Amino acid sequence: MLIINKLLLAYNLVDNKYFYSFFFKTLIHITFISYICAILKVMKIVSNRSDLIQELNLLRQLGKTIGFVPTMGALHEGHLSLMRYSNDQNDITVVSIFVNPTQFNDKKDYQRYPRILDEDIKKLESVSCDFLFTPSEHEMYPVKDTREFDFGNLDKVMEGKFRPGHFQGVALIVSKLFEIVNPDFAYFGEKDFQQVAIIKHITKKLDFPVEIISCPILRETDGLAMSSRNMLLSIEERKHVPLIFKTLQEAQQKAKNLSVDETKNWVVCTINNDSFLKVEYFEIVDETNLQPINKWEQKTGKVGCIAVHVGNIRLIDNIRFNS
Ligand code: PAJ
Repeated sequence: MLIINKLLLAYNLVDNKYFYSFFFKTLIHITFISYICAILKVMKIVSNRSDLIQELNLLRQLGKTIGFVPTMGALHEGHLSLMRYSNDQNDITVVSIFVNPTQFNDKKDYQRYPRILDEDIKKLESVSCDFLFTPSEHEMYPVKDTREFDFGNLDKVMEGKFRPGHFQGVALIVSKLFEIVNPDFAYFGEKDFQQVAIIKHITKKLDFPVEIISCPILRETDGLAMSSRNMLLSIEERKHVPLIFKTLQEAQQKAKNLSVDETKNWVVCTINNDSFLKVEYFEIVDETNLQPINKWEQKTGKVGCIAVHVGNIRLIDNIRFNS
């Protein structure tokens, strides 16, 4: 508080005695507010891309490192964990909240996606985020962006196969956000296992000077992977969904005595036995190229990825299988 008092005193002196020109007053005013924000760790909310670029350029010139966490909001502890990783590793953390229309292949899913900015802001303040970027659709897509990305075979399976166009939309928005934020590190959750692989792929291919950090899945106490869509589940549906992770965990044990195909069938049957749940796919894939494996002996990291419909809601999860 002493520092703030001194700053206020200095500011008043400067304000009253020496600087009468509008230009200097404005400049001093902005610098003063920035200092106070930095001292108090106040989060700045920016919705204009050029304002954010300008602010971050200044900080970069001061040698600050920038960590970035892109989100679609309706924040939960899983999102906040990424921000904590960023805070630990960087001087400045930027979070974006933008429900990106181009990655929704189902219009209804886009419309019902939860939007609770006021609550999100409170949660962000609790983890001390420096900048929240909340662009409008027009800000991100002033004109139609027709860029097409080549993911090799990474998008031919699982989410890419069942949600056509989804990863084109994800890659488009993440590229645009990277161009604006230009971060040193960007943080993504392994909950969206295929998304991380796709982002790493385009980052390398398009030569973005950013390091992608993949972070572990955060779960509720009953094992359900945290997700913004969980809040859309009815009370009854919520009681049934822990079966998804419970079955994946049991599958790790079953895999010791069953073949890959038998394990996959067991998982699908066990979950489908619950009348509230309907498996869309369950694949066991090579963690690097995401291609389905058919033998446990294959010497690669193996990940079981699942998508399950619960009423109108679609949930995804994954688990590692050791050799
Ligand atoms: P969203 O679903 O909001 O997720 C934002 C980030 O949080 C993603 O990297 C996601 O993997 C991570 N995340 C979600 N649930 C998590 C959990 N339970 N544990 C750990 N991390 C979790 O993913 C998107 O938004 C969008 O596709 C986006 C990348 C922002 C592009 O629009």
